Amino acid sequence: MAKSYYGKYPDERGKYGKYGGRYAPEILMPALEELDAAFAKFYPQQRFKTELKQLLKDFAGRPTPLYFAGNLSKRWGCNIYLKREDLLHGGAHKLNNTLGQGLLAKYMGKTKLVTETGAGQHGYGTAIAGAQLGLEVKVFMGDEDIKRQHYNVYRIQLSGAQLVPVHSGSRTLKDAINEGMRYWISHVEDTHYLMGSVVGPHPYPMIVREFQRIIGKEIKQQIVEQAGRLPNGIVACIGGGSNAMGAMYDFIEDDVALYGAEAAGEGGDTGKHSLPLTRGRLGVLHGAATYLLQDDFGNIKESHSVSAGLDYPGVGPEHALLKDLGRLQVGEITDQEALDACVELSRVEGIIPALESSHALAYGKRIAQNYHPEDILVINVSGNGGKDLDILQKRLRFDL
Ligand SMILES: Cc1ncc(COP(=O)(O)O)c(C=O)c1O
Repeated sequence: MAKSYYGKYPDERGKYGKYGGRYAPEILMPALEELDAAFAKFYPQQRFKTELKQLLKDFAGRPTPLYFAGNLSKRWGCNIYLKREDLLHGGAHKLNNTLGQGLLAKYMGKTKLVTETGAGQHGYGTAIAGAQLGLEVKVFMGDEDIKRQHYNVYRIQLSGAQLVPVHSGSRTLKDAINEGMRYWISHVEDTHYLMGSVVGPHPYPMIVREFQRIIGKEIKQQIVEQAGRLPNGIVACIGGGSNAMGAMYDFIEDDVALYGAEAAGEGGDTGKHSLPLTRGRLGVLHGAATYLLQDDFGNIKESHSVSAGLDYPGVGPEHALLKDLGRLQVGEITDQEALDACVELSRVEGIIPALESSHALAYGKRIAQNYHPEDILVINVSGNGGKDLDILQKRLRFDL
């Protein structure tokens, strides 16, 4: 790609080409403007940077390893490196963003955090940040996700956060965001809405991207140290898109292929999937214009995926732009392919990945078929599979 990307997005209206923007209720506009101004003021300050760096290092465990997966490399026929966000405190990349936004909220003088969660990883990350930074936390979560990710529900509660079940709509992430934002409208004075991915009205996609960029910055340094050069490609799963944006942003102007795995659920043609980038159309959801799953009348369609963190009918606006620019290649990965990849990584490398991350692994396996033995593919393992053991046990039974 021509070296003309950085510095352009978002533009002054918070847009990424025709995507993004700030389509929020009038009543939220002052809070979004306050957040935008606070980020511009505090994020570049040395004091903020030093405090966040310290938290990420000593509390969260950064840098996470970039691991050369020798066994997988032999099987797949090229050099596979795994970025181990599963080893971050809390078990997923989400903490990079929750510590960043939590600290920002504190600098803004807020005393409470409200958020949504799908897989529970972001809710847990917010609960951790709240406990660490002394902020009260409320987490909205759909009924359906409460059932399938109950270990994280317990972790959230154990960490002192209040969990609010959401019974509306598909009772998953989309509805949890709706309810969380509704709550925020009447509590903006003392409460920061801690968005969990690169979605929502401006400035959220930009703020979350900036806090997750640490993943890609580390990959860049580590791969040069270990392999002496940049990789041929980077793969990540895309729910809202924060781990993918974090891993990829610093490579956009490099000669490195960028691959995003979307959740094809029961299969792209069955209608039971979460494929906004490959099968969606332009629309507005949660304050931003982006690719969305919708019916002929523009109503948002329910998404489906075995992994709660990918079960969302929309996607970050910058991913929509990168796809249109031809910079991001998107693969459709079914539930079954993700489950198979989860088993393969567990058995071949001794790493049980989250079902979200398993989509990236399955796509990586597909891409590796066209790679040469000397090529390098980095796969972002966004989280560990501890939260998914119930789902795995239902699908895969072992004899005693
Ligand atoms: C482990 C893990 N990976 C990926 C995701 C998807 O989110 P994002 O696309 O914002 O990285 C989630 C969401 O909960 C998650 O828990």
